[in-house]
Amino acid sequence: MFNLTQDRKFEEIEREVPAIRFKGVEKYYGERPALAGIDLVIPEGGCFGLLGPNGAGKTSLVRAATTLTPPDQGSVTVFGHDVVKQGADVRADIGLVFQESCLDRQLTVEEHLELHARLYRLPGRSVLVEESLRSAGLADLRGCRVRELSGGMGRRLEIARGLMHLPRILFLDEPTIGLDVVARRSVWEQIRELVSRRTTVVLTTHDMEEADFLCDRLAFIDAGRIITTGTPDDLKRSLGGDVVTLRLENLEGAESSIRLIRNVREVVKLSESEGLRIVVFEGSRCLPDILANVRANGILDVHFERPTLEAVFLHYTGHQLGDKSS
Ligand SMILES: Nc1ncnc2c1ncn2[C@@H]1O[C@H](COP(=O)(O)OP(=O)(O)OP(=O)(O)O)[C@@H](O)[C@H]1O
Ligand SMILES: [Mg+2]
Repeated sequence: MFNLTQDRKFEEIEREVPAIRFKGVEKYYGERPALAGIDLVIPEGGCFGLLGPNGAGKTSLVRAATTLTPPDQGSVTVFGHDVVKQGADVRADIGLVFQESCLDRQLTVEEHLELHARLYRLPGRSVLVEESLRSAGLADLRGCRVRELSGGMGRRLEIARGLMHLPRILFLDEPTIGLDVVARRSVWEQIRELVSRRTTVVLTTHDMEEADFLCDRLAFIDAGRIITTGTPDDLKRSLGGDVVTLRLENLEGAESSIRLIRNVREVVKLSESEGLRIVVFEGSRCLPDILANVRANGILDVHFERPTLEAVFLHYTGHQLGDKSS
């Protein structure tokens, strides 16, 4: 297993009490492991993404950390509290928005928040409900029944509800699944806002764009195992660099001069019309040098490509994130 950022900071993280620590976590449904030995540390602060295809074990991992389904083997602690032995302490620190919507279609927006405040016996209920409505941008919809809300507004309501008891960690299981582009953006903004207010967000997704946009760190999970962890940039860099494709009027001497530029790892001559394919670390920094070197060759076209998270997943697992067969 590769551990990029996590390895570098491992000793540092080891000394602190992290937000969540999974140690050797296994969960079986029948013979098949949903979680096959998970070791993972999620630090406090920022947005941590659990990224993997259908059936990878993302929800099982969330259920283990939120006291809903205890692990068969291993342990999970949340701010040092064991999820099995100190479940009440763990639950006080966490909020959870489930993968499937859990709203009552007949209740209004305000009634949902009111009910949640009562169930949790939260003090200052009416002020809290007002504050939740306002910060989720739902004040104008307070009287709407859930059946009248768009999917995105429903999600915003669920997130606002999950935050009412001011948890230190909010788990969001596939927060934008099934939402259109506009609704998805609005939920993303709500999540960013939360992170800026210091709530630790743990989100599961199989949407690469979402992970790239929201997450400070990621763990790729596949078939119940952590495949690799790191920041989105570290993970992309781990593939060995950016790719610059150059089409030139005249290729003479270009290949050898580009090879001499610092950080250039590989130069491959494509067909005469396609030009050169250059693999380079820190591509955006090197691009001016590369172009300066070949100016005399007549530049016809430049194409710059960063590896995507999809490519990273494919590299480490040998299959696409969208494959259900994993
Ligand atoms: N209650 C259950 N009973 C039996 N099998 C289960 C149960 N919950 C999960 N599984 C199995 O465990 C494995 C992991 O499921 P899990 O729901 O954790 O995956 P996931 O990554 O959340 O998938 P998705 O992206 O579809 O939500 C799957 O093979 C699933 O069929
Ligand atoms: Mg799931």
